[in-house]
Amino acid sequence: MSADRKPIIAANWKMHHDHLVAIQVVQKLSYALEPSDYDTCDIVICPPFTGIRSIQNLLEGDKIPLLLGAQSCHWEDEGAFTGEVAPPMLARMNVSYVIAGHSERRQLFGETDEIVNKKARAILKHGMNPIVCVGETLEEREAGATDERVATQTRAAFASIKSPEAERCVVAYEPIWAIGTGRNATPDDANTTIGVIRNVLRELYREVADAMRIQYGGSVKPGNIADLMAMPEIDGALVGGASLDPGDFSQIIRFRT
Ligand code: 13P
Repeated sequence: MSADRKPIIAANWKMHHDHLVAIQVVQKLSYALEPSDYDTCDIVICPPFTGIRSIQNLLEGDKIPLLLGAQSCHWEDEGAFTGEVAPPMLARMNVSYVIAGHSERRQLFGETDEIVNKKARAILKHGMNPIVCVGETLEEREAGATDERVATQTRAAFASIKSPEAERCVVAYEPIWAIGTGRNATPDDANTTIGVIRNVLRELYREVADAMRIQYGGSVKPGNIADLMAMPEIDGALVGGASLDPGDFSQIIRFRT
């Protein structure tokens, strides 16, 4: 964590919590948080699409300063794309962050570097902020290819995005072998790889790279968040399993206490 960048902790619920459960979980989370938690950290909830409108109503009705996110979107504004959701539809529900290129989308749904770039540009075009995910497989890590992999993914995701817009982007470094496995990257390793990503951003965006936030994701829990956040390059977390429970997620957000 650096004093120059506001931490951002995001919940990626993946395909969990229908809209009724989503409302209960967000209510409980808001009871567990203090006003100061929102001042010291941007807190984002990325539910499945079916929960977005319900959570929007709750946040606006009860004036809860949680930020709303989505887990993916298409890159076109509209069209014959059965099953897809367009960026302007999300923007109309006051979604502020959209995840692009999560490894599950890359591995299970054929999302390529080129698609991730198209999505990031579409998200920015509609005034929202992409959370661009990068990360290596276990084989790549063992072959010593981690740095090259994340650098390639980062360069591709940011192709033709200019500085003022890049500044609004968040990068999430999620080593694939750490996702849902209970085996997080060590804080030192995560810090080193995030440093590699930041150097790529410095090459691309000399003026704004040091203001851009880079999260770590992969088996983040209440018990390891403080050590991760103590690292100078780690600006927050993208949390899967432990974000489903409002008690666990509030402890992650309140890692300082
Ligand atoms: P887990 O926290 O369940 O390992 O998931 C990480 C992740 O993929 C967040 O996007």
